[in-house]
Amino acid sequence: MTLQNYTIRPLSVSVGAEFEGIDLARPLDDADITTIRDTLAERCIVLFRGQNLTPQQHIDFSARFGELAIHPLDAYQHPDHPELFMVSNLPVDGKPSDTRNVGRFWHSDLCYTKTPSMGSLLYAREVPAIGGDTVFANMYRALETLSEPFRNMLEGMHAVHDYSRSPGLRDRDPETSARMVAKVPPVEHPLIVTHPESGKRSLFLSENFTCRIVGMTDKESAAVLDHLIANATRLENNYRHQWRAGDLIFWDNRCGLHYALADFDVDDPANRRHMHRTTIVGEAPQP
Ligand code: SIN
Repeated sequence: MTLQNYTIRPLSVSVGAEFEGIDLARPLDDADITTIRDTLAERCIVLFRGQNLTPQQHIDFSARFGELAIHPLDAYQHPDHPELFMVSNLPVDGKPSDTRNVGRFWHSDLCYTKTPSMGSLLYAREVPAIGGDTVFANMYRALETLSEPFRNMLEGMHAVHDYSRSPGLRDRDPETSARMVAKVPPVEHPLIVTHPESGKRSLFLSENFTCRIVGMTDKESAAVLDHLIANATRLENNYRHQWRAGDLIFWDNRCGLHYALADFDVDDPANRRHMHRTTIVGEAPQP
């Protein structure tokens, strides 16, 4: 049974689907949750526009999809709701927020941990009049569009993911960054993974965080990783979202990448961008 009437439409040829006519603050049946889950696993992101959610409603909706991760650094958490990770350029205690520039490169959330995130739900509370867009890429297609010999070469390979490679660390409080780096030592994951729900295979890597392919020389590794990211993020394989306040996007970290564009002046107080993110715990990626 379904409790609400909604329609689902694609956002672009390669990525995304929008649920139109759904109100996430109202009850949803298990069948609705299954539809959202299946669409997510197929389309890599799902969009819900025009939502009016309290922090608790955002958390409750997210929790229908799994256990929520608490960000390792309390500095990034919502003061009353540790499940909410603040992605915001609003000053904190009169100082620039450490999260005002997060995600400015192609990545999958928490790929640098042993059990990367299943998915993240970003809810826009305030957005600039123009800019602050997020771009998404489909990692099934990133794999499918490689030649067969190239795919065969990658089969069985593992890559190292290392949080300390994040370029954003340079902008953040050094002591906070050092604490975070100490909490997450580098990990290895398969380069080609199988999505646990769709059963489809995809590439699993991020820009910067994924720093080396096990067994290759540094030069070989850099050339292959650069090619994989370039192929994955071709414009044909993207969806670019222009946020409105009240939008909620749920992205699947197991089959997609995202990139938060630095296409506006984050330090201009007129450009307020204030988002809340929940992050769902995932499993170790499997080949
Ligand atoms: C993130 O990578 O979680 C941030 C995405 C965004 O701010 O658009």
